[in-house]
Amino acid sequence: MKANDLPLDSIPAAAKHKAGGFATRAIHWGYNPADHQGALVPPTYATSTFAFPDVAYGARCFAGTEPGYFYTRVANPTLALLEARLTSLEQGAGAVVFGSGMGAITATLWSMLEQGDEVLADMTLYGCTYAFMNHGLTRFGVTVRHVDMTDPAQVQAAMGPKTKVVYCETPANPNMRLVDIAAVAQIAHQGGAKLIVDNTYCTPYLQQPLLLGADVSVHSMTKYLGGHGDLTAGAAIFADAELAQHVRLVGLKDMTGAVMSAPDAQLVMRGLKTLALRMDRHCSSAQAVAELLQAHAATATVHFPGLKSFAQHDLAKRQMRQFGGMIAFELKGGMEAGIRFMDALQLVTRAVSLGDAESLAQHPASMTHSCYTPEERAAHGISEGLVRLSVGLEDIEDVLADITQALDIALAV
Ligand SMILES: Cc1ncc(COP(=O)(O)O)c(C=O)c1O
Repeated sequence: MKANDLPLDSIPAAAKHKAGGFATRAIHWGYNPADHQGALVPPTYATSTFAFPDVAYGARCFAGTEPGYFYTRVANPTLALLEARLTSLEQGAGAVVFGSGMGAITATLWSMLEQGDEVLADMTLYGCTYAFMNHGLTRFGVTVRHVDMTDPAQVQAAMGPKTKVVYCETPANPNMRLVDIAAVAQIAHQGGAKLIVDNTYCTPYLQQPLLLGADVSVHSMTKYLGGHGDLTAGAAIFADAELAQHVRLVGLKDMTGAVMSAPDAQLVMRGLKTLALRMDRHCSSAQAVAELLQAHAATATVHFPGLKSFAQHDLAKRQMRQFGGMIAFELKGGMEAGIRFMDALQLVTRAVSLGDAESLAQHPASMTHSCYTPEERAAHGISEGLVRLSVGLEDIEDVLADITQALDIALAV
């Protein structure tokens, strides 16, 4: 049995038909066709509101004493099924889904923080998360400090009496630095803070932050979980059911309203059915691309956890099932060569986002991380010449051929 499998005897009797390994639960968890006229695929409850049998019932729903659905911004059966599946896949106690990854991140942070609190964040964060913290939260009396979380001792030294949340991505977007989740969770808890990990790059298939001690795992489901580039969505999965309910009622319902639509939830559940298969392919293809990049004369540095030369390769082996589908690299010719490389690509598409079937290349300094000033990028470990690749699901020979010809052009000029 693999670490993230749920043994049948740990499942309540009513849920036994849904138990099993990761892929089985990603397909079946929480749904029994027999309860829905035999429909193999769960119905999509595309409705904003729900009829009350009488006024007293509606009043009880609003008072929280009746468990029924009443308005989709608070809860909806299609969203609830997706939330149950995500909770199972990350082995949490509850989940809340949102209309985007930023919806999940902002709602979670808004509801966990108060004026005067402090967030201790890793050096490198996705551009909009960085902007939300440094240009958003700080306007409302929350202090944000950044520390290099590749070194847990620095987290320990930076913890203060006002630190309420410790926040990181691992691997970090875009430079692939890893954080030792178990070590940092322990430090956060000793200091009375909660650890939030952005698990977008890994998905629950490759890494399970809650099992390593984190309190919240957040996702942009726009990426691998949706998997087909046709929606935006987010999720937060919690180790504590009470915190999940607090974020639902405060962060989602009252503070952001960043609700996800039921048809999009249905698409994410379709994506989940092939998540394990797709991730296996993303990972093996990315390994091949990383090795090609490393061997090519045009490249200066390749950041990919699956390379033995990667500084945190041992940590990656410890906390990730495989090494993921994302790569960052720099060319010897710096930014100019990086732009020549990207403009020469013919199969790999020049686009932001990641985790799609299509291989995507982008330039963080001018695109996803342009919210940082050049000085901030330098201070936060995001070099101007970095190229980010999301390795897709095409035939690997075709991807390798396209990258090789683009590297040759970048080298030749
Ligand atoms: C690591 C990471 N977290 C969060 C987000 C935000 O997600 P969304 O675009 O779905 O709002 C992104 C988007 O690129 C991301 O890469």
